[in-house]
Amino acid sequence: MQDLIIENLHVKVENKEILQGVNLTVHQGDTLALLGPNGHGKSTLLNAIMGHPRYIVTEGKITFNGKDVLKMSVDQRAKEGLFMAFQTPPEVPGVETMDFLKQALNSKREKDKPIGLFELYKVLKDGYKKAGLGEDMNTRHLNEGFSGGEKKRNEILQMLLLNPALCMMDEIDSGLDVDALKLVSEAIEEQQKKGSSFIIISHYARLFSLAKPNRAAIMVNGKIAVDGPSSLIERVDKEGYEWIKRELGIEIKKSEDKPIVLETCAVKKTK
Ligand SMILES: Nc1ncnc2c1ncn2[C@@H]1O[C@H](COP(=O)(O)OP(=O)(O)OP(=O)(O)O)[C@@H](O)[C@H]1O
Ligand SMILES: [Mg+2]
Repeated sequence: MQDLIIENLHVKVENKEILQGVNLTVHQGDTLALLGPNGHGKSTLLNAIMGHPRYIVTEGKITFNGKDVLKMSVDQRAKEGLFMAFQTPPEVPGVETMDFLKQALNSKREKDKPIGLFELYKVLKDGYKKAGLGEDMNTRHLNEGFSGGEKKRNEILQMLLLNPALCMMDEIDSGLDVDALKLVSEAIEEQQKKGSSFIIISHYARLFSLAKPNRAAIMVNGKIAVDGPSSLIERVDKEGYEWIKRELGIEIKKSEDKPIVLETCAVKKTK
């Protein structure tokens, strides 16, 4: 079974422990809504699952499909069917979108059977249509100068092309117009029908009303504080997170402001 099992996961970022013992299981075919206040570790969890080098696992276990994910390179994780749509998709100047997508497609194929040009054009044409992007994207550099919505659509395009077993969507709905949100939810539905599992992070009930999760979990202070039915989404939408302190006695630590990253060479702390 293609279950994702996370046990006692501790993760450090920039030498600060962010995840402090996450336990979470996503069964094959689950769509899990991952909720939680800002800065409590949701994106950190997805980055750690995907193997981002800045997110250091200090303790714990992640298995997918019975295999030890932490022993795999990022490439191997992708090959195994893990996929993440970034909260803030990075701009990659110098890399044309078509070349990137070709590489991504080839990385899932056998080394001596790369995708042919004709098939590539056909697959991309179909993908761009579904993602609501123009084919001129082919020659534009990856995410460079893309509008917020175009970046998110491009993430959806990658999901559709790669057909992952587990799709992790980090605030895929942020900055999307109504039509794009509909398109994204249709793409998610198409992928759900193929049997893929989902972890969907969002702060808004709208996406969840379209993607229809069967479960919800709430991350607080780097741990899963609540793991339960999807009705939790409605509760959080109406009441926020205050009740977690009241009912579970968990003090919600104020998130530190995120550092503003100035290009790649400097980091400025906000007050
Ligand atoms: N690359 C990084 N460099 C420095 N600090 C980081 C980095 N990534 C995460 N953090 C810190 O880890 C903490 C958790 O961040 P994370 O992005 O996982 O939160 P989140 O729950 O996804 O929040 P949001 O809902 O605002 O997206 C924050 O204090 C954040 O500043
Ligand atoms: Mg986040």
